[in-house]
Amino acid sequence: MKKRKIASAKGKLGVLIPGFCGAISTTLIGGVEVVNAGEGKPIGSLTQMGRIRLGKRNDKRNPLIKDFVPLVGLEDLVFGGWDIFDENLYESAKKAAVLDPTQIERLRSRLDARHPMTAVFDRKFVKNLTGPHIKNGKNKYDLAMQLIDDIEKFKEDNGLDRAVMIWCASTEIYIKECEVHSTLAKFEKGMKDNHPAIAPSMLYVYAALKCGVPFINGAPNLGVAIPAMVELAKKQGVPIAGSDYKTGQTLMKTILAPGLKSRALGIRGWFSTNILGNRDGEVLDDPASFKTKEVSKLSVLESILQPGIYPDLYKDLYHKVTINYYPPRGDNKEGWDNVDIFGWLGYPMQIKMDFLCRDSILAAPLALDLVLFMDLAKRAGLSGIQEWLSFYFKSPVHAKEVYAENDLFVQLEKFENNLRHLMGETLITHLGVEYYK
Ligand SMILES: NC(=O)c1ccc[n+]([C@@H]2O[C@H](COP(=O)([O-])OP(=O)(O)OC[C@H]3O[C@@H](n4cnc5c(N)ncnc54)[C@H](O)[C@@H]3O)[C@@H](O)[C@H]2O)c1
Repeated sequence: MKKRKIASAKGKLGVLIPGFCGAISTTLIGGVEVVNAGEGKPIGSLTQMGRIRLGKRNDKRNPLIKDFVPLVGLEDLVFGGWDIFDENLYESAKKAAVLDPTQIERLRSRLDARHPMTAVFDRKFVKNLTGPHIKNGKNKYDLAMQLIDDIEKFKEDNGLDRAVMIWCASTEIYIKECEVHSTLAKFEKGMKDNHPAIAPSMLYVYAALKCGVPFINGAPNLGVAIPAMVELAKKQGVPIAGSDYKTGQTLMKTILAPGLKSRALGIRGWFSTNILGNRDGEVLDDPASFKTKEVSKLSVLESILQPGIYPDLYKDLYHKVTINYYPPRGDNKEGWDNVDIFGWLGYPMQIKMDFLCRDSILAAPLALDLVLFMDLAKRAGLSGIQEWLSFYFKSPVHAKEVYAENDLFVQLEKFENNLRHLMGETLITHLGVEYYK
């Protein structure tokens, strides 16, 4: 197999973050500082800690992923972004209260000077949030142009050739895909006409792609998934990926559901509930924002279990997901699952799961990996939807003619084979017959 031509990872990489002062962003930026200072390990990050098997099982080739594919080093990341609050990162990290206060104090000198750029924000799209650090514009097109100016200035000020944008801002209200999203021409006209179905998140995607900057969508907003943005990404030769980081409860679901299906066990009901007390929880307390999240969370079981072709096992599955805003827990979410399953002759059984997790501790390494892989994708000349990264998302963006692949194990195989393919290594089929000849 031929190795793909990949441009060098040398030089600094800009990481542009809408939601710069939020919990994930500050945990990511603070965390990278901690890792670079040798004071902590990047646990949860496949690019930093993971290995990949190459060749046969007995070849004993298992390099670290970061030694196998050419990724930018953590010391070469330059962070910047936008937020509706004009706080420095030290203040924001204290408010987010994810990292330990003593750790935040140790980081103070490195976080103090970093402020966000003014955001594109419209309260119609995030009802439970308001902030003063917001751009004014003639229309939505004008706002997108201001974001483009910001990106160019950020690159120039920091002497950057390359950048990646990653959405770590709030989840917006549920929007149904409609005519204005269907082509780039209609979308551009819609921005000038202030079309109500064009959300701020879409303006960030548009600005990034116009600047040749790959875009990652960490929230369930439509963002990169609309045909107009897929068209723009292709036209500009820029990779896009999304949507909605697969971190806690949904990660567990996409581990457990394929396992049950692999044994032909039936599922009658899956009840999931959460308590969460951070700002994300507050935003999701608004039913319109929660609807966006709910659609993303509910979609995974259907595509994994395929009730259409397994009616006896999954046709009657009742799937319910709720999130309850509960301030005392802060970022330390608790997710409960009750799964009603059935086995031989239909006899019922139950599985109970209680995951006491930390939302941003789970999300920050995903955000880091996605930034590094999307920069790799751009340097390798890949453009449009990067389905091989669906491993990281609850609601993977995918080609219209196929269903989304949500099974974590299929996603992992796809992801690893894509890395092998990029580097000209033999793909691993797990056939195994070669050992018994
Ligand atoms: N933590 C997880 O496990 C996880 C998993 C999947 C998805 N997400 C999503 O990731 C996003 C970030 O999560 P978080 O916990 O960091 O949330 P957060 O509320 O702590 O941070 C979001 C930040 O975005 C800012 N913001 C809102 N709208 C903006 C805009 N238009 N432009 C610029 N800034 C804007 C807010 O002021 C806030 O500082 C949320 O949408 C969340 O639903 C999180």
